[in-house]
Amino acid sequence: MEAPRQLQFGFVGLGNMGSQMAHNLSLYARKQQFPRIMLWNRTRSKIEHMEKESHCDVSDSLAELAGRCHVVHTCLANDAVALDIYRQLCSNAKKGTIFADHSTLYPDTSDELQALSKEHSMHFLSCPVFGPPAAAKSAQLLVTLSGDSEGRDLVKSYIVPTLGKSALDCGEATRKAALLKILGNNCILGTIELLSESFTLAEKTGFEVDLFYEFIQQWFPAAAWVNYGKKIRDGTFSGATGFTIPGGMKDAAFIRRLGAETSTPTPIIDQAWNHLTTAKALGGESLDWSACAAGMRVTAGLPAFKGEDFSLSVKVNGAEKLGKQNGEHVNNGH
Ligand SMILES: NC(=O)c1ccc[n+]([C@@H]2O[C@H](COP(=O)([O-])OP(=O)(O)OC[C@H]3O[C@@H](n4cnc5c(N)ncnc54)[C@H](OP(=O)(O)O)[C@@H]3O)[C@@H](O)[C@H]2O)c1
Repeated sequence: MEAPRQLQFGFVGLGNMGSQMAHNLSLYARKQQFPRIMLWNRTRSKIEHMEKESHCDVSDSLAELAGRCHVVHTCLANDAVALDIYRQLCSNAKKGTIFADHSTLYPDTSDELQALSKEHSMHFLSCPVFGPPAAAKSAQLLVTLSGDSEGRDLVKSYIVPTLGKSALDCGEATRKAALLKILGNNCILGTIELLSESFTLAEKTGFEVDLFYEFIQQWFPAAAWVNYGKKIRDGTFSGATGFTIPGGMKDAAFIRRLGAETSTPTPIIDQAWNHLTTAKALGGESLDWSACAAGMRVTAGLPAFKGEDFSLSVKVNGAEKLGKQNGEHVNNGH
């Protein structure tokens, strides 16, 4: 596909990940002397500051953004949201528009979005990413891509180093990148579950967790081990700059669904699911998914949280238990 000389980019869904990626895309657009990129987010107030900091304008409506852009990147919370947003985008975009979606979606949903885009003579690429918001900010993501080659060739021409440090081309079949993302998340959540168990065991045996963490750093120097190991060692589970429990449970549900559909047991993720459920009940939806460790700790008779106390007030038989509510500290119970 021959790219128009003045590519107009759009970005839809500016949460923890999307806001960082959109900022980097805007820097690329500025460098190329392309127009300011157009942004749309459900909660407009969260992104208004970006107009001052980045080469971008906040769009008044999704329809306006769709109608003016050649390439629209999206990063949305879940499948239902993506389907809703794409119905609106496809009804308003120009023929030939390229969509690059960075959300983690079930492969069937990516296929559905591709079919919807094709119906409107548009191109849909599944481009899920590996890496937390900090990696999105420093453009150190691993970006996967699948979809028709016309769209892929254009997006591949700038995605590295604009959004990521590397790209993995999964080919024509749209669902493949979505599937790879789920298989990769099986490894990541499995690592969080194993780290949760290992740090709990270390603490129960009286072993110094700092020394154990040093071992992790030396023997497993991969980002997931080192970064999640640190959060679990310190009990730092704020989801504000990470991946929240509902997002993690969405991905765990994808893994379990793939397992059910292919008759493949997923015992590690089943266990992680239980620990995430406990962590959510104890600390709430805004915790990072590494709070899986809090669920594990409880099963071993340890307090759920060490360091900061994230525990919520829980009403049992009308009586208020100790903890925090709505972020306000009531009583830490210690
Ligand atoms: N965080 C990570 O570490 C990470 C890493 C890799 C991939 N991912 C994937 O990237 C995607 C985004 O993750 P995130 O961490 O950035 O999540 P997030 O911070 O919760 O952002 C979600 C985005 O979806 C929008 N949204 C939610 N409900 C909506 C609705 N009903 N209608 C329209 N927009 C809606 C939100 O808009 P508002 O601002 O209005 O709420 C926000 O822009 C997810 O699919 C996730 O699985 C996340």
